[in-house]
Amino acid sequence: TVVTVNGSASHITPRLLYGQMFEDINSGDGGIYAEMLQNRAFQQVTPNTTAALYAWNTINGAGINVIADPSPVSSALPNSLQLTIPEGASGSIGFGNEGYYGIQINSGWTYNASFYYKFPVTSSFEGAATIALQSAEGQVYASASVSLIGSQTTWNKVAVHLKPTLSPMSTANNFTVTLNAAEAAGETIDFAMFSLFPPTFKGRANGLRIDIATTLYEMKPSFFRLPGGNNLGGTWATRWQWNATVGPLVDRPGRMGDWGYINTDGLGLLEYMYLCEDMEMEPIMAVWAGYSLDGESLPDDALDPYIQQATDQINFVIGDPTVNEYAALRASLGHPEPFPLTYVEIGNEDFFASDSYIYRWKYFAGNLTAAFPQLRFIATTYPFDPILDPVPLQYDNHVYQTPGWFIENAFYYDSFERNGTYYFQGEYAAISLNVSDVFGDGRLMYPTIESSIGEAAYMTGLERNSDIVFAASYAPLLMNVANYQWTPNLIAFDASEVYPSTSYYVQQLFSVNRGTEYLPSTVPTYNGTLYWSVTHDSSASTVLIKVVNVDSTSAPMTFNLPFEVASAGFATVLTGPPTASNSPTTPNAIVPITSPMTFSKSFNFTAPAYSVTVLTTQFV
Ligand code: AHR
Repeated sequence: TVVTVNGSASHITPRLLYGQMFEDINSGDGGIYAEMLQNRAFQQVTPNTTAALYAWNTINGAGINVIADPSPVSSALPNSLQLTIPEGASGSIGFGNEGYYGIQINSGWTYNASFYYKFPVTSSFEGAATIALQSAEGQVYASASVSLIGSQTTWNKVAVHLKPTLSPMSTANNFTVTLNAAEAAGETIDFAMFSLFPPTFKGRANGLRIDIATTLYEMKPSFFRLPGGNNLGGTWATRWQWNATVGPLVDRPGRMGDWGYINTDGLGLLEYMYLCEDMEMEPIMAVWAGYSLDGESLPDDALDPYIQQATDQINFVIGDPTVNEYAALRASLGHPEPFPLTYVEIGNEDFFASDSYIYRWKYFAGNLTAAFPQLRFIATTYPFDPILDPVPLQYDNHVYQTPGWFIENAFYYDSFERNGTYYFQGEYAAISLNVSDVFGDGRLMYPTIESSIGEAAYMTGLERNSDIVFAASYAPLLMNVANYQWTPNLIAFDASEVYPSTSYYVQQLFSVNRGTEYLPSTVPTYNGTLYWSVTHDSSASTVLIKVVNVDSTSAPMTFNLPFEVASAGFATVLTGPPTASNSPTTPNAIVPITSPMTFSKSFNFTAPAYSVTVLTTQFV
């Protein structure tokens, strides 16, 4: 195959071309949000049930129960954990939390642990509670002592540092709070809002798990789509509401998320903005737009409060604190400067409710554009189906398909009219090999070389069409291997490790090597086996050529460049057997390998079977 490259760029690479799609789908709580205690504040549970105690256990016969507290720690957190120490008990007694399917204990870390306590009825008790990190078998790795006083009948916050002496391999550990039963027998004590934080990414308070955040950051993403996805709202009552996710943690009620578990909302709107700031990303932020996954669309005369809530959400992010109360709230929380924001998405996958989107889009886009003329609003129905007013200038397209579909659709956007409409490929992934039931049997557990190179072939098409495709993100982003709702995902993790997939490396190769301008070249054969994309980076004087070979045999290629290039350069190759995956049992089965390569104005390259390669050299 001969590829002739044109020296005149056809278009500039859009600023946000590669980024990440995020929603809490077993990825926020117990994932990127570094809080280690599950069910830390008994949010949204039914008091006096065993279910309300999930992730908690009793130690040495202590009575524990989640109560509807007549004097709760806050109105947002109405439930407390009530500990009752039986008469006649002896030894160390109390309760533990098993974390999010484990707790990593690292002797290099200092953990911040805290909780609130009160005695429901004043007592003469004065004694110590031991806060500890210990193995499931009871080996103590770190502990600290605090005094609890029986006359404390209003909530009092207790905070300690825990510094483990060992780094056990196992994450089957517990956070425990215990008392000396002989001293405390007969006492009843209430606890609320526990927390255990390890060090966080860039040291941010209430921040991110370092290893997961670092993996995301190393993809060099330009945007972060938040907060969904489906997690925008399963029902009207449980929809994501920005204002319930900001401010002190004790003022956040949490919500039943759309993926079958309770969201703490500790990773709230401000934390999302800090995440973007700390990773040099721009948010692509969604607003709830009057439709929930249960099928309910609000009527047109009921939308005003939700348009106002969306307006307030946007003002919280970009408003002027001197004139807007929600921008002032942001300033009071420590960030007077507005965050960068260009794109706001109105809803998610509203092709499921396209009839009502006709009026919902009209009112949301119309009012929000009037309030924020500097922003660009993204529609979420199928492009031009139905016809919307005002005419959307941006659409979000989603596709979950087979690797074969992605290869066949490497030219998907080539035929789109250049009519001033721009596209966000907001979700895409090769998820199955079963062409007749993509979401059913045959679903991949982890991305494979076959699925990832299918995506890569498609991505060469995204680059060729990045005059109209302004952003693209694989989805979903993160998967807790101990408890997941969707497969495959870009990055898997457990309580102590991160497992970047083959698709992660494809995303990283494309993102890190994206170039500033697209150079047209010989167009690949429709439904062929070789795909490519050529860009150059004018500031770094580099040419960046991505080559995807989806065939089972290697393919000789000749590239004819329009300019002289340095002879020294590199080839970074991701390749392997089609079924190969990175997983917890094979974490580094497939990683990109960079080798030196000799270039010239006209050079040969043999694309290995089942491979994605980035060729880079300097132009002179
Ligand atoms: O990425 C998983 C889900 O797929 C998203 O929540 C939704 O937008 C899509 O249907």
